[in-house]
Amino acid sequence: MTETVTGGDAAAATTDTTESEHPVSYAPSEEFVRQANAGKELYRAAEQDRLAFWAEQANRLHWHTPFEKVLDWSDAPVAKWFVGGELNVAYNCVDRHVHEGRGDQVAIHWEGEPGDSRDLTYSDLLAEVSRAANAFTDLGLVAGDRVAIYMPMVPEAIVSMLACARLGLTHSVVFAGFSSSALRSRIDDAQAKLVVTTDGQWRRGKAAPLKESVDEAVDGAESIEHVLVVRRTEIDTPWTEGRDLWWHETVGQASAEHEAQPFDSEHPLFILYTSGTTGKPKGIIHTSGGYLTQTAYTHHYVFDHKQGQDVYWCTADIGWVTGHSYIVYGPLANGATQVVYEGTPNSPDEHRHWNIVEKYGVTIYYTAPTLVRTFMKWGREIPDAHDLSSIRLLGSVGEPINPEAWRWFRDVVGGGTAPIVDTWWQTETGAIMVSPLPGVTHTKPGSAQTPLPGISAKIVDDDAKPLGPGGNGYLVLDEPWPSMLRGIWGDMERYKDTYWSRYATEGWYFAGDGARFDDDGDLWVLGRVDDVMNVSGHRISTSEVESALVSHHGVAEAAVVGASDETTGQGIVAFVILRGGVENTGDELIAELKAQVSKEISPIAKPRQITVVPELPKTRSGKIMRRLLRDVAEGRDLGDTSTLVDPAVFDAISQANAK
Ligand code: WT7
Repeated sequence: MTETVTGGDAAAATTDTTESEHPVSYAPSEEFVRQANAGKELYRAAEQDRLAFWAEQANRLHWHTPFEKVLDWSDAPVAKWFVGGELNVAYNCVDRHVHEGRGDQVAIHWEGEPGDSRDLTYSDLLAEVSRAANAFTDLGLVAGDRVAIYMPMVPEAIVSMLACARLGLTHSVVFAGFSSSALRSRIDDAQAKLVVTTDGQWRRGKAAPLKESVDEAVDGAESIEHVLVVRRTEIDTPWTEGRDLWWHETVGQASAEHEAQPFDSEHPLFILYTSGTTGKPKGIIHTSGGYLTQTAYTHHYVFDHKQGQDVYWCTADIGWVTGHSYIVYGPLANGATQVVYEGTPNSPDEHRHWNIVEKYGVTIYYTAPTLVRTFMKWGREIPDAHDLSSIRLLGSVGEPINPEAWRWFRDVVGGGTAPIVDTWWQTETGAIMVSPLPGVTHTKPGSAQTPLPGISAKIVDDDAKPLGPGGNGYLVLDEPWPSMLRGIWGDMERYKDTYWSRYATEGWYFAGDGARFDDDGDLWVLGRVDDVMNVSGHRISTSEVESALVSHHGVAEAAVVGASDETTGQGIVAFVILRGGVENTGDELIAELKAQVSKEISPIAKPRQITVVPELPKTRSGKIMRRLLRDVAEGRDLGDTSTLVDPAVFDAISQANAK
């Protein structure tokens, strides 16, 4: 039975001792329920007529030409949503608010890392986006062209995305923490014509070069015509005449008048690369009408967002899908006022986020479990030193949030009353799919709980048998949804193969996550079932890191596993075999290998631990036995090693690991 505690009653929250020291679920306070955007009837409406429900959600947007049909699934697994409709995504996110009298409302409270700040109203945003659109047009870009955006969290990054959307250019945002070679492979794959970047980026009070990495990346990249550079840090910047342009000299000089043209509902809006099970990242394609509908819908209901009242803050980076959907498109479509912060949570010190919450009166705060656990490590006296009473709703995304972190988050940051929405979704799903609805759902620590109204999910076994309460299997989505991916850029076979072949007969989308239903029927996401690691909520494939390691001249073979990590969820642990004749210089070699991974992929992919071993454990068919390596990495006793070619290999590995 579910034991429920009413929000705000901190004493009651610890009196239930049926199972552990804590209540099983938390009812929303009456006060929250009274004002909530969502009610139970939302589920009923969606159940009654799913497509009519989505049509209603699509009417949150301004359509230049109304759609004729909600869904065309005849070419499955490539969906068409809101068929025949035409809209302009940027018009919906910017112009519309100005036309409807919200021009003076702040869209973005931008907070720079060194302490500078800037407020942009919707009118300011319209002027900036229009200027950028005019400048991009002057560069010869036309609808359908691809633009790479490689920038820290500065307003111009958001302006660039919206200018692309306005012109029907397809953007490919590359996280500015990625290496130049990662940027290059994404530029080549999408054949981008323009890169927008900054001279440098602020990191913990220091200016680090960024344009230099772009120069390295675009050297010999034939598709690139221009590099557009925002001056952010004023550090010395190498320059190639004719190719490179300063933002303030081009965009800054362009006209602030620009009329947005409509595009088809299925016009590609962006490509975003994410790790798969092979070394090559997948360019996930998202389109316009369905994507904007579902991001706006979920931002409204899941975050209980009140236009003109809330101050919303999503702490993600625009380099990830969370930044696309819940900093740029969802919130701006809903006319939100939001905080955008450029830096790390501990610059200049660990109080930074709470200072920002106080400064702007943040009401909705959406972050990742790894950061919550970091805050816990820093100690509750840090948030306790601030007035966080403005916060009324908390969100979590990226990985399962452990109940201990969930409770800490609710008590310390949410004042013991704020509902937490644990939102499950993926780069591929485009928007939130499984989450409590605040004011309706009794929230349960650690569980993402319920598919949203309009969304259909199942947990199934290997034979496609749907599982009920108590069942433990694979998470599948058995009906198409508006913000679903439309393919993998340049590789539709891989699209079908990765997501639709596992349950081809049933026509279900395979998410790659294991999940279970508890006895109340609430859904718990258990983590990836493929060779993809989740490090601080970032997806990194084992084979990507392995290929970065073997690109070092000294490495013959590498095996990488994700081992559980108290703060980051998983940590990367690597085992390498050296080439014959290569000397093991100990720490020096390990440092070199870590640097190699940073350079090839990103510092976020740097292994926590690298062990040089004489051999890797393989099955008779030559497959590396990652399960056993994970046991070693997590310090467990080894299980069954009987299928190993040479069980003695393990003694050597365990010994090397213990060193
Ligand atoms: C993978 C998707 C969605 C934006 C951030 C990550 C894991 C995500 C949750 C959650 C448990 C979660 C899954 C998923 N994941 N949210 N609330 N509970 N797991 O996007 O990089 O595409 O990663 O992140 O494993 O498949 P992504």
